Amino acid sequence: MSPDDALPDPAHAGPYVAQGLSMPPAMDAFWMPFTANRQFRQSPRLLASAEGMYYRDVDGRQVLDGTAGLWCCNAGHARPRIVQAIAEQAATLDFAPHFQMGSPLPFVLAERLKQIAPRPLDHVFFTNSGSEAVDTALKIALAWHRARGEGQRTRLIGREKAYHGVGFGGISVGGLPNNRKWFGPGLPGVDHLRHTLDIGRNAFSRGLPAHGVELAEDLERLVQLHDASTIAAVIIEPLSGSAGVILPPPGYLQRIREICDRHGILLIFDEVITGFGRVGAPFAAQRFGVVPDMMTVAKGLTSGCVPMGAVFASGRIHEAFMQGPQGAIDLFHGYTYTGHPLACAAALATLDTYEEEGLLTRAAELEDYWAEGLHGLRSSNPDIIDIRNYGLVGAIELAPQEGAPGARGYQVLERAFRKGLLVRVTGDTIALSPPLILERRHIDDMFSMLGEVLATL
Ligand SMILES: Cc1ncc(COP(=O)(O)O)c(C=O)c1O
Repeated sequence: MSPDDALPDPAHAGPYVAQGLSMPPAMDAFWMPFTANRQFRQSPRLLASAEGMYYRDVDGRQVLDGTAGLWCCNAGHARPRIVQAIAEQAATLDFAPHFQMGSPLPFVLAERLKQIAPRPLDHVFFTNSGSEAVDTALKIALAWHRARGEGQRTRLIGREKAYHGVGFGGISVGGLPNNRKWFGPGLPGVDHLRHTLDIGRNAFSRGLPAHGVELAEDLERLVQLHDASTIAAVIIEPLSGSAGVILPPPGYLQRIREICDRHGILLIFDEVITGFGRVGAPFAAQRFGVVPDMMTVAKGLTSGCVPMGAVFASGRIHEAFMQGPQGAIDLFHGYTYTGHPLACAAALATLDTYEEEGLLTRAAELEDYWAEGLHGLRSSNPDIIDIRNYGLVGAIELAPQEGAPGARGYQVLERAFRKGLLVRVTGDTIALSPPLILERRHIDDMFSMLGEVLATL
């Protein structure tokens, strides 16, 4: 039996774990995130346990994980080395403050991360989530310019359709209207590049879309409009995940890098989804051959086991903060849980697992087989208007139902789950991003279930 076929035995569960294996007696108090709460309570989808490639729901049904949880469990579920590391760490050092105090593991982890990061991103600031990593990177960008005497560079540039988490910084540079419109004006002085989704010209491309490299020139337009001397940084997901998998045309990221360099603007890559092997290299920066000045990560850093995020910064950025008088705090920023021992232990064990099993490059090996299966779904439903793939990421976009956008997507989520497959849905786009341990047989199962679901719509 392979490890992913061995599902957890509820008989070994502790008292609270056992409670989590069954339907809760009441569901009113927990206000769920990004969820239609009333609809959910009427027809809950509750996951109770997980191992390898599979979840089990509270009824004991097996569910194939097509989304690595939420783009995060890249090493699969309940990996023994990671589970053990967290348990041992909890019993050894449960918490340590890291403001003017320290503990060994964040230092060990940062050195380890430096080994796999693109050069010269060799300094690491730890956070607890992707949203915090984004806000941290934006703050560092502003403070960096100020530290160098260019404090007038306060403008931040994001992109339409981008997702950078839910902090005020993240939603300001983000480009998803629903995530922005409810929450006031956001940060002042933010502007947005055009997005690169162009179904008209690029539908059903295999891998990167051929058209749209010229969209990078939009940055030049914003520079002309605002003047480079006011712009601190550009933040971009090398490949947008949450907005429904939007890919960069070849050469696009290179062009953005060149324009940033020409005008002294910092480039931040948000690799919260693309980091840790998702696109066939440790980071998308390496796969695309473009190195940013800062890089935000989270999710795959601990394979989703313990919340943790991080900002990678180049030596050039870090050095500017190390110029003040000895004894003065160099960056007035941090979180109570920065470098939390459990998260560090989980991350180190996760990196061991990635390394031992070659997971940081496995997506490149499976990419063609994955693309073949994914694009094979095209004939399953006439309302499919686009299929997109890169690394172990896939998206199927359905035309919205007349007067009910999102209805088709929700039907797919619901029916796939009842069939035994977890997918992620944004509007009418179905996104897939499985754990990187998956085998070809899982790919076959995933697309066979999804094909049947799409045919029933
Ligand atoms: C690119 C990107 N940035 C930031 C975030 C926010 O991460 P978190 O949900 O951990 O705050 C996400 C989450 O999906 C993301 O995809």
